[in-house]
Amino acid sequence: MFLGIDIGTSAVKALIMQPDGGIAASATCPLTVQSPHPLWSEQDPDAWTQAVLTACNALRQDNPDAYRTVRAIGLSGQMHGAVCLDGDRRPVRPAILWNDGRSHTECALLRDRRPDIGLIAGVPPMPGFTAPKLLWMARNEPDLHARIRHVILPKDYVRLFLTGTLATDMADAAGTLWLDQEKRAWSPALCEISETDPDWLPDCLEGTAASGTLTGEAAGKLDLQPGLPVAAGGGDAATGAMGIGAVNDGDAFLSLGTSGQLFVSTDTYRPNPESAVHAFAHCVPDRWFQMAAMLNGASPLAWYARLVGQPIADLLGEAAGDKTTRIPLFLPYLTGERTPHNDPHIRAGFYGMDPATGRAAMTQAVLDGIAYTFCDALDALTSAGTSIRRPAAIGGGTRGDLLLQTLADAMGLEILRYRDAETGPAYGAARLAALAAGASSLEEIATAPAVDRIFEPDSSTRAYHQDRLAQFRALYRALKTVTD
Ligand code: XUL
Repeated sequence: MFLGIDIGTSAVKALIMQPDGGIAASATCPLTVQSPHPLWSEQDPDAWTQAVLTACNALRQDNPDAYRTVRAIGLSGQMHGAVCLDGDRRPVRPAILWNDGRSHTECALLRDRRPDIGLIAGVPPMPGFTAPKLLWMARNEPDLHARIRHVILPKDYVRLFLTGTLATDMADAAGTLWLDQEKRAWSPALCEISETDPDWLPDCLEGTAASGTLTGEAAGKLDLQPGLPVAAGGGDAATGAMGIGAVNDGDAFLSLGTSGQLFVSTDTYRPNPESAVHAFAHCVPDRWFQMAAMLNGASPLAWYARLVGQPIADLLGEAAGDKTTRIPLFLPYLTGERTPHNDPHIRAGFYGMDPATGRAAMTQAVLDGIAYTFCDALDALTSAGTSIRRPAAIGGGTRGDLLLQTLADAMGLEILRYRDAETGPAYGAARLAALAAGASSLEEIATAPAVDRIFEPDSSTRAYHQDRLAQFRALYRALKTVTD
């Protein structure tokens, strides 16, 4: 049995994968995000460790036999977070997360200091990445910055708890802006321009390597065997890919979680910083990927459901049964946007309501808005020279048939939903655990799951969505003049 743990933003997810790939048990423990100031997004690193203990305890209760025979652990996590530790390996402040927008001035500084940064780091500086956050700390929290002795990524804080070692993997390091993506090694030049001591950065391993073993103390708290190997693992974009076997050149999928991604694996490093596409090292050796990364993913739907006080499934059912064609436009930028706008300041908004607008039309507006961010993502990848034909869909948002149908219609693409499409990154982490334990080979394990349903684009809606996409883009440009 292999334990996969994903340190997400809204929850820690853990599952036990059987040697035949089946899921023996899964558990989730929710997390909260703190935003003490506009643009800030933070979490307490110790909340991740606590949530891991809770989720593992739930796994043990759910399937004690499977839990007792876990042979290796794999880690996945939200990317880009800055977890800054002092000499005692304790956080000097809350972690600054991937959707935090405070370091936009520092991004401009990094670009000025190193105009070719996007070619080395695979992406131009954007506030969510780790390096600009360290520069922000140097300029705004000098006392805390002076105490830093180690900088790690969110899942690596859990690794520290599990194994006592400081290490990360290529695919998570890829999102820091300190990795030379082509060489798969930290870049001293990028450390220097972000006022980061290279000695603060942990060892950077391939995701399939064992990074250490479970300490006696952690084993005691988790009720697992000491000495279990812990795979280096990966950032959640890459582990999501691993979970559905998207590791070969051209394998593509879209991810509908708290964030959204349109992702394609590549066998070479293919940067295209002008399009705000991310070209990153993959969590398996000698592979990279190109990714359009959207900050809001499917989360506007969860936000909207909370707002109107209805379960998402009910809202989707109501919208599916409603025949109105007068659908408002919705910009889903609750936390700003990365690809294609690199704009931490833009915020969400509805436009075009009239006295007849009802809840079903508003729900459909939210779905359309999410789908149009994926149309922008598709254009960004196309302009980076990549074509996507038949993406799979993963993540919690895949539960909504109407969202997937809207995506297929708006993008004009067939979209596949795999069985267990929601398990994503934690499942990929479990696969990496099996590789680190030497229990399988990449070819054997990196397979695609069975297809649950194919969503065909309805060509009769093509012109309608094209018109609305043009309006959506015009609305962004207009609203940008308000937020700038
Ligand atoms: C990827 C990204 C998100 C986060 C949170 O670039 O920002 O996937 O890792 O899920």
